[in-house]
Amino acid sequence: MTNPFRPTFGASPQYWAGRRIILDDYAEALASGPGAAARTLVITGSRGIGKTVLLNELEDIAATQGWLVLRASARGDIVAELTDSVIPAKIQELSPPTTRRVTGVGITGLGTVTTSVTGPDERDLPRPTLDSRLRDLLAMVSGTGVLITVDEIQDADRDALSRLAVTYQNLIRDDLEISLAMAGLTHGVETLLNLPGTTFMRRAHRYDLGPLTSEDAADVLATSSRDSGLAFDTTGLASAVHLAAGYPYLVQLVGSLAWNVARRADADSISVQQVDSIREEAVATMGAQVHHPSLKGVPTVQREYLEAMAALAAHGRGGTDDPVATAAIAERLGKTQRAASDPRAKLIDRDLISPAGWGKVQFTLPYLGDWLRGSGTVRRIS
Ligand SMILES: Nc1ncnc2c1ncn2[C@@H]1O[C@H](COP(=O)(O)OP(=O)(O)O)[C@@H](O)[C@H]1O
Ligand SMILES: [Mg+2]
Repeated sequence: MTNPFRPTFGASPQYWAGRRIILDDYAEALASGPGAAARTLVITGSRGIGKTVLLNELEDIAATQGWLVLRASARGDIVAELTDSVIPAKIQELSPPTTRRVTGVGITGLGTVTTSVTGPDERDLPRPTLDSRLRDLLAMVSGTGVLITVDEIQDADRDALSRLAVTYQNLIRDDLEISLAMAGLTHGVETLLNLPGTTFMRRAHRYDLGPLTSEDAADVLATSSRDSGLAFDTTGLASAVHLAAGYPYLVQLVGSLAWNVARRADADSISVQQVDSIREEAVATMGAQVHHPSLKGVPTVQREYLEAMAALAAHGRGGTDDPVATAAIAERLGKTQRAASDPRAKLIDRDLISPAGWGKVQFTLPYLGDWLRGSGTVRRIS
């Protein structure tokens, strides 16, 4: 029996839930011909909410419809990467073997064989651009199209991103079958969208991912565990759903930890006691994997605001603290409400807190309050 849960960033879940509308819209956009607005997507959300696996899912949809998928990493120059390595590799892959010739045989012991596409002398040709490369590639896939995905765009080089945008828009204008799906952290992407040169992204379909519904979370936990041969019992499932607070990474983490405990105990099903027993480890892991990196780079003034808020928050239900009055936070900080409104606005921008009714704020992610009230540093987990 193997653990069916995958609490790993970027690892597609064994059982997928929710986000249906995005996938359906995308499949429809691909089928409906060039120029469909939903072929350009920007997916935003916090760490662990499921952006990367959603990109993977979109790639699968495109591939199913016969589209080629080009994956560019936002670290580094996206345009150079696509132009000089990703697309040439694809073109080579698509070229019929007869036009390939061996140009060199590696003698490193790895048995590498370098081939190149035969053609006119490269020195006589103008240097390929992203535009020309993409047109070459599109010509090879007539009938279908090309999807470019870029993850972690909050880290993208601004200049490279706007060069990509220019090329992309030119291809769209020529009615070519092309699609672009990008994902990144809400705050960083918001900043990017406000820069000149990224106007086209503002017209893209925007999806800001929120938590899964309790039904979807229950569905993931119940179905994955049942298929593995070790299922949650009714109260165990309810308790796991509660603990995971709809947060996809936690759904996988809670599922995985509880499954292991039950398996080690040789139990027939996963019980509420077993779920309870992993609560602390789940919260600590969430802190180390999600909260700790999210708080990196948060200036002291904002950090103090968060700490005051955590201290005031009565622990609510399901890992989410109750909303806290901004007036109370200001008072605790010894500031006027006016002075405290600046860090508040910046924390909302960073997506760490969100307004919750008149004059109140709330932590956006589950267990951030717990994390701040605890050590606030990375704990070692046995
Ligand atoms: N819709 C979903 N259903 C089930 N599990 C999901 C879903 N979305 C994300 N996950 C799980 O959540 C975790 C985080 O997903 P990931 O895409 O890496 O997040 P992000 O890129 O937003 O940081 C992974 O373990 C993934 O398997
Ligand atoms: Mg990711």
